[in-house]
Amino acid sequence: MKRIGVFFGSTCGNTETVIKQAVRLLRNAGAQVDLYDIADATVSQMDPYTNLILASSTWDNGELQGDWVEVYEQFCEYDFSGKTIALLALGDQYIYDAYFVDALEWLATPIRRNHGRLIGFWPIKDYRFRRSRSVEGDHFLGLAIDVENQNNLTEKRLRQWTAQILPQFDG
Ligand SMILES: Cc1cc2nc3c(=O)[nH]c(=O)nc-3n(C[C@H](O)[C@H](O)[C@H](O)COP(=O)(O)O)c2cc1C
Repeated sequence: MKRIGVFFGSTCGNTETVIKQAVRLLRNAGAQVDLYDIADATVSQMDPYTNLILASSTWDNGELQGDWVEVYEQFCEYDFSGKTIALLALGDQYIYDAYFVDALEWLATPIRRNHGRLIGFWPIKDYRFRRSRSVEGDHFLGLAIDVENQNNLTEKRLRQWTAQILPQFDG
């Protein structure tokens, strides 16, 4: 059975709602999933997991969610060797169209620098925004969810994305 540690940060509860939908889908697919709110957890609680999902909303013109900011220094020093990590971020592509889901890049950069393996890149084609630091080529560095403007697509995106990442996790 695949064991996955899921860590999220959420200011108004949107990311929490979305990540709980993802967790339900993963559990229904047979994974063993442990869920942590990073507001009440430490980065070292990622130690037991070779499979991780990290989720954050984006705030303040391209910043990480506040509870992630609190642990970010520790996060940047963490050794991700041997770990496979999928990222999910929330953002608003219309109001923040120059900073859409920038949270993905804040999480991705230290993971790559510290030897983690990133999975779960997601096509940009069904979104409309001007700029995002989280895009490489024609993909985001993880799943982008916009509950403000495209919540009708959230469940479908989560289904596709969880089906995409689950086979790539160890176990
Ligand atoms: C003050 C404020 C700043 C925001 N800044 C950004 C941003 O820079 N980029 C973006 O994509 N979304 C931005 N958003 C949208 C949030 O990411 C979005 O509302 C998200 O659903 C919040 O999730 P949460 O309740 O889990 O924190 C911002 C929202 C607010 C209210």
